[in-house]
Amino acid sequence: MLLGTQRINYRGHLEVGGCDTAELAQRFGTPLYVMDEQCLRAMCRAYRAAFDKRFRESLVILAAKAFITLAMCRIADQEGLGLDLSSAGELHTGLHTGFPPERIFLHGNNKSAAELEMALDAGVGRIVVDSEAEIELLQRMAAARGATADVLVRVTPGIDAHTHTYIQAGQIDSKFGLGIGTHQALPAVEHVLARPNLRLRGLHCHIGSQVFAIESFDLAARMMVDFVREVREATGYVVEELNLGGGLGVRYREADHPPSVDDYAETISRPLHEQCERHGLPEPKVMVEPGRSIVGEAGLTLYTVGVVKDIPGVRTYVAVDGGMSDNPRPALYQAQYQVVVANKAAWPLDGKVTIAGKHCETDTLISDIEVPELAVGDIIAVQTTGAYNYSMASNYNRLPRPAVVLVCDGQADVIVERETLDDLLRQDRLPQRLESR
Ligand SMILES: Cc1ncc(COP(=O)(O)O)c(C=O)c1O
Repeated sequence: MLLGTQRINYRGHLEVGGCDTAELAQRFGTPLYVMDEQCLRAMCRAYRAAFDKRFRESLVILAAKAFITLAMCRIADQEGLGLDLSSAGELHTGLHTGFPPERIFLHGNNKSAAELEMALDAGVGRIVVDSEAEIELLQRMAAARGATADVLVRVTPGIDAHTHTYIQAGQIDSKFGLGIGTHQALPAVEHVLARPNLRLRGLHCHIGSQVFAIESFDLAARMMVDFVREVREATGYVVEELNLGGGLGVRYREADHPPSVDDYAETISRPLHEQCERHGLPEPKVMVEPGRSIVGEAGLTLYTVGVVKDIPGVRTYVAVDGGMSDNPRPALYQAQYQVVVANKAAWPLDGKVTIAGKHCETDTLISDIEVPELAVGDIIAVQTTGAYNYSMASNYNRLPRPAVVLVCDGQADVIVERETLDDLLRQDRLPQRLESR
């Protein structure tokens, strides 16, 4: 499986963005996150084209939680996307690049007053309110500064998105949003409409992540338009903006066949056009918030093999120099990945191994995967690590977080420096009473 600009070059090495990945490993060290700029931009453009052609007005918003760095925010800006940010840290990063605040959407099920303050100071485009408590808090804060905040109300449509339970978000039993089926969404809309310092601009929902069952998006769109109608009937308010969240799945393994961006846009557009027409509703501005499907396939992680341990009749473990600190997804939700051996990309497969990380846990990155014959020093490229890897990385076992390199047309630029051992000590403090040994 080769993704984005990946190809096998004349040396039989894996190449991405015109760069030999074995050389990248040598030049920048491992573990190393590599992001394929052309692939990132192609996904941004595919989304914009698919939505531009189907809707009177639309906006594609990058869910930055999947992968956020200054460079990524700049690329999203250049490609005309919005930014979905969900913490002060993400907001700080977006604003630091000069990202237009009017295209920023602030999310979160428990935004702090400080985060709301920051958003109001920056004049972000929309604050997506998630609870009654937040509606009250935001009203008080906006009133105190004599401002009006533009908000969307996040609702839970009550849909099982057929994905891993840890990344489902649209079902009734969710910490996010206000349930339509539990009769909490409509009162929340009424409360926003009644607050003088909040201006309701529309509705938001997000049903989950890594969704392959395209009918879930169809259902979400139908339920949301039904709710738009309910809101109009109950309040007279006509929803201007409908944000349907993210969730489209990506290809982690050869056998994965996620719907295309075009199929996804079509699946949303059909019920939206039909339902709006049937109910005599003006078509709202349609927004989507893809994260994984924009950045996922653009990323790969390079590791160096340190140990090959064969347990006769049981299995062969191949230990690499990273693991759950740079990619917690296998441990979190049994995520599965595909690999290419970067320096042996053209070699025949030789048998199954289990790729293990170096952490003091089971820390299995990939079980029972076919690889060529492996030796210490080989470079393993784990594919589709662009989403929820760097952004979820930790310093478990005090491993410095890897560098991130952006590759394009044969050029490789560090967009996040590798952490140093001293970086790991930077926030540590020794209280005076512990200073003497
Ligand atoms: C509100 C919201 N929007 C968008 C996304 C992006 O989802 P995905 O990365 O699956 O596209 C998420 C992810 O959890 C989310 O919580």
